[in-house]
Amino acid sequence: MAVKTMMLTAEEVEKAAALLRNGEVVAFPTETVYGLGANALDREAVEKIFQAKGRPQDNPLIVHCFTRAQLTDLVTEIPPEAKILMDKFWPGPLTLVLPKSAAIPQVVSAGLDTVGIRIPDHPLALELIQKTGFPLAAPSANLSGRPSPTRAEHVWADLQGKIPAILDGGETGWGLESTVLDCTVKPFRLLRPGGVTLEELQALTSIQVDTTIYGASLDATPASPGMKYQHYAPQAEVFLVLGQNTPAKIGELSEDYLEVGKRVGVMTWDERCQLYPRLTCLPMGPSGDLSILATKLYHLLRESDRLGLDVLFIEGVSEEHLGLAIMNRLRKAANEQVIHT
Ligand code: TXA
Ligand code: MG
Repeated sequence: MAVKTMMLTAEEVEKAAALLRNGEVVAFPTETVYGLGANALDREAVEKIFQAKGRPQDNPLIVHCFTRAQLTDLVTEIPPEAKILMDKFWPGPLTLVLPKSAAIPQVVSAGLDTVGIRIPDHPLALELIQKTGFPLAAPSANLSGRPSPTRAEHVWADLQGKIPAILDGGETGWGLESTVLDCTVKPFRLLRPGGVTLEELQALTSIQVDTTIYGASLDATPASPGMKYQHYAPQAEVFLVLGQNTPAKIGELSEDYLEVGKRVGVMTWDERCQLYPRLTCLPMGPSGDLSILATKLYHLLRESDRLGLDVLFIEGVSEEHLGLAIMNRLRKAANEQVIHT
């Protein structure tokens, strides 16, 4: 049954907290992307998240805290190196997977004996969690398979009529989801690259990298269940194009589509749009600026839908620093259709 979705302003955070205390779900901004939150300790409330998103039950949720003191009840152990990472990166875009306590319902952890936890670096998120008095389980507030929302209107487009409220905090900061790090193995294992980079983590402790982040067959069983689902997909057929000679290759490949009247787009750095006069350009920002690209990425994928593109070619970027997270999302958007030139 459709519900009326309220768009709440920052001044109305108490209304959002009241809904959450009532066992409801509410979308809220974080510094990465918007989350769809519910009381992490209330099984029935958390089930509503899965319903609203159409999320597979075997994909665990991240638990968002306001202070480190809340962790005492949620996890059974914190390795010393994990504490060092908390000191350095919390609040911030780093999710640590730790052994869970019995307080966390199975639905949150999707039956795993671990739980992913982070303290978000966003004043409204922190105020909301503090006001509710409990930790919030929250995945990204998109329909499953759609690009994560970086603006309240993206949440509206996906979940309007399905959730009671969206707390509008404007555009999110980083634009990509948090880094997910498994701290139950030694060395710690990077499960999802994100706002805190691999290089930043490696400066403090040794890290192994789960190879599924570079793309893997959907049959494999990745350590992070969420990584096996197609994510971030626009409606267009997407090709990720790598290498030196992308304009020639994209020009050649687009011919066939243009001939039969398809709408063809290209996602590339601002300066390079002129290399593709016959295609609709989705500009990624000034050449090489990975942090600007990160903030725009999901919006551009949604723009592709708004423009009704049938085919989208994306020029790949360097995999250093934030580029690792960006390329991880682009590979998923392209559903592993990668062309090397
Ligand atoms: O930035 C973010 O992380 C955003 C904001 C809202 O905090 N949240 C987010 O949640 O991206 P979601 O559900 O879209 O992605 C969570 C990822 C999934 O890939 C999931 O499989 C993984 O984290 N994950 C969660 N708990 C885990 C666990 N116990 N073990 C392994 N992976 C886990
Ligand atoms: Mg997500």
